[in-house]
Amino acid sequence: MKALVLGFGHVGKALAGILPDAIEAAAICTRNGAVLNPVLDELLAETDNRHLSHSRAFAAMDPLDAVQNLEYDVLVDLTPTNFSDAQPSTTYWRTAFERKKHVVTANKGPLALHYGDVTSAAEENGVRLLFEATVAGGTPVFSFARHCLKGAEIVSAEGILNGTTNYMLTQMESGKTYAEALLEAQQKGYAESDPANDVQGFDALGKAVILANALFNQDTRYADHMPQGITEITVEDISAASKRGECFKLIATVDESTLSVKPQQIPKTHALANIGDAWNALTFYTRHADAVTVKGRGAGGLPTASSVLNDLWELHG
Ligand SMILES: NC(=O)c1ccc[n+]([C@@H]2O[C@H](COP(=O)([O-])OP(=O)(O)OC[C@H]3O[C@@H](n4cnc5c(N)ncnc54)[C@H](OP(=O)(O)O)[C@@H]3O)[C@@H](O)[C@H]2O)c1
Repeated sequence: MKALVLGFGHVGKALAGILPDAIEAAAICTRNGAVLNPVLDELLAETDNRHLSHSRAFAAMDPLDAVQNLEYDVLVDLTPTNFSDAQPSTTYWRTAFERKKHVVTANKGPLALHYGDVTSAAEENGVRLLFEATVAGGTPVFSFARHCLKGAEIVSAEGILNGTTNYMLTQMESGKTYAEALLEAQQKGYAESDPANDVQGFDALGKAVILANALFNQDTRYADHMPQGITEITVEDISAASKRGECFKLIATVDESTLSVKPQQIPKTHALANIGDAWNALTFYTRHADAVTVKGRGAGGLPTASSVLNDLWELHG
């Protein structure tokens, strides 16, 4: 199987390091060019894990040109998530679908903004759109739901889907202020220099929208909701909750007709209460098997690349 990989950042480089022989990279592209038929070991060594354009096989090429003209079976989208208009990825995906190519993505934008449209486009062209890495990074929530919970019948799901805010809330439990916890999250590389997407709940909202559509067939979009983030929570709130045997978590909840992202005070005995640091977790409430929780790495190049590879294996068979 041949993959056209768009993006050679944290996730793209990690994927290049674990791609098996059975899945060949037809090309790996960044914004301004591509390496055609790369020998991955050489590519990673040549570029010293920094810039694709250092490679000898680099060709200046518009990514859309690559999507339109190269020979491949699956487009792998590892470009930055854009919650404003989900471009240019939406155009890349449509072009790939029209050429009867599958799409595997870690990029949440097109699914959060136009879930119904992009999944219909894949269906109409008889190809698949897989997106394990978009929610909870290296934690296999969709494969788990698809392959392990069909018989249990999922009724609702709630989870911690943003590692940065979970890390901050965990630090605040040990007495750090909001500002100290944020600075520490930035120093550890969990939070962006502009942390608004994380702390205001927009990143978790994008993921909740994908869950609501994929698990419950809700026809819902990112623009239909407003999340509540963690910016108003103080150390005093957290310490008062702790005295009552509770803790604060930023929780995304979805079922067949509702969706919310907001901080909640939950008892310390709750399944999500002991998900600390930057971990993610999702609890599925089911009709026949009670509650089932999966916990794992919500981010990081390699865990996220492992979810992308899982989708590629699903296509490969
Ligand atoms: N990192 C994680 O832990 C994680 C976890 C879950 C999901 N994700 C998602 O995975 C995706 C990739 O994340 P990342 O951390 O690897 O990002 P990143 O380090 O910022 O890398 C993004 C890569 O995409 C390339 N790129 C940008 N625009 C492009 C375009 N139009 N066509 C082709 N390539 C383009 C960039 O190339 P240039 O250098 O030329 O700009 C860069 O190589 C994002 O959508 C992110 O939300 C990431």
